[in-house]
Amino acid sequence: MRKPMIAGNWKMHKTAGQAVFLVQDLAGLVERVKDVEIVVCPPYIALKSISTIIEMDKLNICLGAQNVYWEEKGAFTGEISPVMLKDLRVDYVIVGHSERRHIFGDTNEIVNKRLKAVLAHDMKPILCVGETQEEREEEKTFDIIKEQIFESLADISSEEMENVVIAYEPVWAIGTGLTATPEQANDATRNIRALVGSLYNPEIAMITRILYGGSVKPDNIAELMDEPDIDGALVGGASLDAQSFAKIIKYQEIGE
Ligand code: 13P
Repeated sequence: MRKPMIAGNWKMHKTAGQAVFLVQDLAGLVERVKDVEIVVCPPYIALKSISTIIEMDKLNICLGAQNVYWEEKGAFTGEISPVMLKDLRVDYVIVGHSERRHIFGDTNEIVNKRLKAVLAHDMKPILCVGETQEEREEEKTFDIIKEQIFESLADISSEEMENVVIAYEPVWAIGTGLTATPEQANDATRNIRALVGSLYNPEIAMITRILYGGSVKPDNIAELMDEPDIDGALVGGASLDAQSFAKIIKYQEIGE
């Protein structure tokens, strides 16, 4: 029903040349994978070359970008538009990653603008939400996620919502080696599904893919994927190595 998705967010790692090698190595390791949607999100400078490889070699890998500006063109020095990404055959765009929110000041309102721009250009947003350690300790996790979901999805129709992927990434688990337990992760993803149901309807809630992100590794992916409301993973550090990322993608084979 909901096809599992494993997406690699390479963040600000790899030169264009290194990114090409990584995708080529990965492609060889996952060429037989059919039942998992594989996405790589390299830095902007590698999108074109990876897009060409994906097309020429007919790879079973989708292309994602890590961010986008919401205007189509204009005097916005340093920004990249949705038109430019679409032209490179980008399928997915991460919006609202916690590093964008906390380092670069992205608010829910800004995330909403980016998300609308992605949808308006026939690409699919991966909307990231998640609480900080402090918010979790203050038992504000649910309220924070609710606010992020409601405000980031403002004015998004149910038809558009069919193309939105959500990633639950607790800030305290990102790059720290601390993973949410499968139960903690599933609690949050189940809540997010209920929020989507209350904003739209139960059918949309049932088809929306909700990923978990935060220190996902080959040795914890299988137990996370066992949870009923976790439909995949958004992987940072462990996606920078072809072998470890391939193991995560082939999580169904772990323990066989
Ligand atoms: P890590 O897997 O390195 O914790 O990063 C998670 C993340 O931020 C993916 O977007």
